Amino acid sequence: MIVLFLQIITCFLFTTTASPPHGFTIDLIHRRSNASNSSRLSNTQLGSSPYADTVFDNSVYLMKLQVGTPPFEIEAVIDTGSEITWTQCLPCVHCYDQNAPIFDPSKSSTFKEKRCHDHSCPFEVDYFDKTYTKGTLATETVTIHSTSGEPFVMAETIIGCGRNNSWIRPSFGGFVGLNWGPLSLITQMGGEYPGLMSYCFAGNGTSKINFGTNAIVGGGGVVSTTMFVTTAKPGFYYLNLEAVSVGDTRIETLGTPFHALEGNIVIDSGTTLTYFPESYCNLVRQAVEHVVPAVPAADPTGNDLLCYYSNTIDIFPVITMHFSGGADLVLDKYNMYMELNRGGVFCLAIICNNPTQVAIFGNRAQNNFLVGYDSSSLLVSFSPTDCSALWN
Ligand SMILES: *[C@@H]1O[C@H](CO)[C@@H](O)[C@H](O)[C@H]1NC(C)=O
Ligand SMILES: *[C@@H]1O[C@H](CO)[C@@H](O)[C@H](O)[C@H]1NC(C)=O
Ligand SMILES: *[C@@H]1O[C@H](CO)[C@@H](O)[C@H](O)[C@H]1NC(C)=O
Ligand SMILES: *[C@@H]1O[C@H](CO)[C@@H](O)[C@H](O)[C@H]1NC(C)=O
Repeated sequence: MIVLFLQIITCFLFTTTASPPHGFTIDLIHRRSNASNSSRLSNTQLGSSPYADTVFDNSVYLMKLQVGTPPFEIEAVIDTGSEITWTQCLPCVHCYDQNAPIFDPSKSSTFKEKRCHDHSCPFEVDYFDKTYTKGTLATETVTIHSTSGEPFVMAETIIGCGRNNSWIRPSFGGFVGLNWGPLSLITQMGGEYPGLMSYCFAGNGTSKINFGTNAIVGGGGVVSTTMFVTTAKPGFYYLNLEAVSVGDTRIETLGTPFHALEGNIVIDSGTTLTYFPESYCNLVRQAVEHVVPAVPAADPTGNDLLCYYSNTIDIFPVITMHFSGGADLVLDKYNMYMELNRGGVFCLAIICNNPTQVAIFGNRAQNNFLVGYDSSSLLVSFSPTDCSALWN
């Protein structure tokens, strides 16, 4: 999920001399922390790779992790578009109903509220879909699996305890922030796991997210593109989208306001659909309109999607995304078209965005690719994969 606004009223992260007045806010996500020695890791598991099981939940992918001592399992949204890992915490000011019980810090022996001078450290994350979480920061033990068979334990991980959370859909327990900011879970894994992560999203069933050496995506059929992690674009993994092909019609970004050299689109696991700026988006839509032999339909979701009456996905053209460096992703029709209204209507899974908003390569478009992030070589790799079969 793309973050509009992240506010952490802080002091603990900075050993500053002057004490900031209460309410002083600093945009943390501009700082890229050096991969530190993983002295906080209670287990040094050289050669083993941390991983977690993931499940699909309607429009997002959830990662299973444990917080606290004794470990308490939560399922939280896998989000490469944000930094803070948070879960709903008791007692709540306002928590949404979730399927599983809500985490109760008073029952965990390792939970510690972060202190900012003489008060707790508030945090707030506002996501672009107008949802938000507000609460306080804490340090807590986070545990996932590892290939060694021993649990992968991250002691004193900074997490958010959300106590006023707007969320409409009752299911997941929070978010796992996986961007490259200093507080993201992958950054807090430390120097032995320097920004290596991969996932493989399937439209159903279970899958895995891998970190460390097991996250390296290689072999035949792999294409890679440069990721841009500039401080001007805090925390996001930006890619360069050079063109989109609709069938055989190639639509260049060059010559449009969407064109850029250092990244024009964010790859985001936490956003479902793909978002293009309006002018470029319209070019792609026109190319689709040009070849689809069906009657247009109103968008049942109210998002002004391009929709058609159809009983089959077969009539729609194949869409290919051309990322820089020759990374051409030929997308399955499922990735780019979705059946709505319980059938009978298919819509293009691309939303035309206000040009001031960020463009997003969403999780549906990434379906059935093994997607690997390597922050040291600054590459994102894609390997076409049957994700639901990968670990079965
Ligand atoms: C960051 O880490 C690298 C490699 O470990 C080291 O060479 C560099 O000096 C570090 N930078 C800072 C600012 O600590
Ligand atoms: C990092 O860890 C290595 C090996 O455990 C150790 O030799 C080194 O001194 C540590 N460096 C720092 C800056 O803590
Ligand atoms: C929760 O946050 C919202 C948004 O800022 C605010 O309007 C609301 O009053 C808060 N709820 C409570 C119970 O404090
Ligand atoms: C879900 O799994 C079933 C059985 O493996 C498969 O037939 C179906 O195509 C899958 N659906 C999606 C959306 O991947």
